[in-house]
Amino acid sequence: MSYSALKPDVEPVSFIPPRNAAWLDETNEITRMFLAAGSVPGMINIAGGLPESDLFPKQRLAKMAHDAMLDPANEALQYPPIDGLVRLRDCIAKRFSTEHLELTRDNVLILSGGMQGLDLIGKALLDKGDTIAAQSPAYLGAIDAWKPRYPRYATMFPSANGFNPADQMADAKFAYTVPNFSNPTGKLVGTAQRETMLDAAYETGTWILEDDPYGALYYDHAPLPRMLDLAARRDPGEYNGPVLYMGTLSKEVAPGLRVGWLIGPKPMIETLAVVKQGSDMCTSGLSQLVALQAFESGLADDILPAILECYRHRRDALFAAMEKHLTPYFDFEKPVGGMFIWAMDKTGRIDTDKLVHDAWAEKVCVSPSSVFDPQGDDKTSLRINFTFNDPDVLDEGIKRLASACQKHLDQ
Ligand SMILES: Cc1ncc(COP(=O)(O)O)c(C=O)c1O
Repeated sequence: MSYSALKPDVEPVSFIPPRNAAWLDETNEITRMFLAAGSVPGMINIAGGLPESDLFPKQRLAKMAHDAMLDPANEALQYPPIDGLVRLRDCIAKRFSTEHLELTRDNVLILSGGMQGLDLIGKALLDKGDTIAAQSPAYLGAIDAWKPRYPRYATMFPSANGFNPADQMADAKFAYTVPNFSNPTGKLVGTAQRETMLDAAYETGTWILEDDPYGALYYDHAPLPRMLDLAARRDPGEYNGPVLYMGTLSKEVAPGLRVGWLIGPKPMIETLAVVKQGSDMCTSGLSQLVALQAFESGLADDILPAILECYRHRRDALFAAMEKHLTPYFDFEKPVGGMFIWAMDKTGRIDTDKLVHDAWAEKVCVSPSSVFDPQGDDKTSLRINFTFNDPDVLDEGIKRLASACQKHLDQ
């Protein structure tokens, strides 16, 4: 390239960028703290939701990636179809079909991680200021994905007595729920409450977004039926809704693959494919081929028992550490699955936004409840992760947290 036409005398200037979109002013400093946690020496991070890296089946995934790259069909390196590789869509349709639910590839959209499904649903369904009926507290990533639309939230509490979300859902574009081991609370929504949400969806004509990254992580008993299945039992045959179901490989194989899927009625899948085109055009063909192999070879099913054993043990270790060190400060329950324990202030004097800073000074990083509240008001609880650290690290982290709690209350 030739630069011969450059102006000879250039005055020094500095670029002043225009301001960012207004919704970005509402992001919180806690997210920035989490990002920094990884690079602070000695910091114990029980804030995030990361899987244990030693459980990644590296050798088998490496072989699959190698074979996919060299495949003469070139699917790993070419632009794949927007809605995903046909073979992977067929595979997901088969995996999630049941006696009552006859899925085909037309019911499946491949996503670049479950996170993309949240983004696409927001783009497809929300106009500025629309209402979302959301299980409370709600996943931080979902709140962030929908922020650019300035949504209103009508909160749903599935564990409340007499739970009936019809009023909340009446004005909402969709209802958002994580029925299997909610992020952040780790709580399971019972089958009766799942049915109640479905009743309300039929009554009000509202979509239900069933976000299910933790659906395989049951440690103590067999999984409850998916809301997708419960809906199909009411209306067997071709799938018509009202549930839009999202799954992901992130917690069962590896999040770095960035492969998820959304299951819904054909017209909605077509709409979301249009939205996806303007989002990322397509999900990586390489990752999709590895995902396909992970299912077809049985890898995803083979590694699940080891994942469950590891996480069950860590769940028990975290719970024991919390019982030992945190009972003066917090109420909590042992979850039957997922990745988190939710700790609720029992002193009436803890401000968890401030406690997070006190905990940081003790070199332990935890997530405060305010980030899971769309209004940012709830300062009573903490989300604590048990999947990423060994039991002795969990015990040390909780000991540090207890020390931070005492200092916080003594201030
Ligand atoms: C409730 C929930 N939804 C969606 C996601 C996004 O998962 P991914 O994009 O890795 O599939 C997560 C990740 O932790 C989650 O907890």
